[in-house]
Amino acid sequence: MSGVRTRRSEDKDPERSTLEIRPMRLADVDEVALLERCIFPMPWPGQAFVHELKEGPTSFCLVARQGSVLAGYLVAWFVYDEAHLGNIAVRPELRRRGVATRLMERLLTEAETRSVRRITLEVRVSNIQAIRIYHGFGFKAVSIRRGYYVDNREDAFVMLRESPRPRREQWED
Ligand SMILES: CC(C)(COP(=O)(O)OP(=O)(O)OC[C@H]1O[C@@H](n2cnc3c(N)ncnc32)[C@H](O)[C@@H]1OP(=O)(O)O)[C@@H](O)C(=O)NCCC(=O)NCCS
Repeated sequence: MSGVRTRRSEDKDPERSTLEIRPMRLADVDEVALLERCIFPMPWPGQAFVHELKEGPTSFCLVARQGSVLAGYLVAWFVYDEAHLGNIAVRPELRRRGVATRLMERLLTEAETRSVRRITLEVRVSNIQAIRIYHGFGFKAVSIRRGYYVDNREDAFVMLRESPRPRREQWED
């Protein structure tokens, strides 16, 4: 994988080999929606995940499973050479074990495969843990959306990760 990546999950997680990262399936949705409700103040309804899986041609949905346990999930969208990370979450009791790192690594691998140039996301300005992981993957805060979150009118950072430009295009400038 090219681009900025300052850490590798296999360096920190002795259980890495037991964690499976795979595409989300309809059969995962009930568990995903349950976890989503436990984690977020404004959870996506189960139907939103179903919609992404059934009718979202741009959607890229992953789950992380440790045996039978749903450890986490990620939803992103790919449109031409851009991607947007819409959702990422990890079961509270399985945090700080590299689960989100594995999901992000898979997203970035997919982005590289699709020659994606820019990945964007929004994150609450108070969400230090998420901001730290995004920084670790080379995202930078590029703007603020004031009052973006309707539950408490919290601001969002818009974060951007740009892939290095191919050498040929640099010469063409
Ligand atoms: C953000 C979240 C997905 C991180 O998942 P995770 O599996 O615990 O993350 P990782 O173990 O891969 O951690 C990667 C890095 O993120 C940062 N990080 C994660 N949790 C952190 C915390 N509680 N405090 C500070 N930094 C943290 C660290 O840099 C960490 O690396 P380190 O453990 O080597 O220091 C998880 O905390 C979560 O589900 N939060 C609630 C949902 C959410 O906020 N999603 C993001 C919406 S934009």
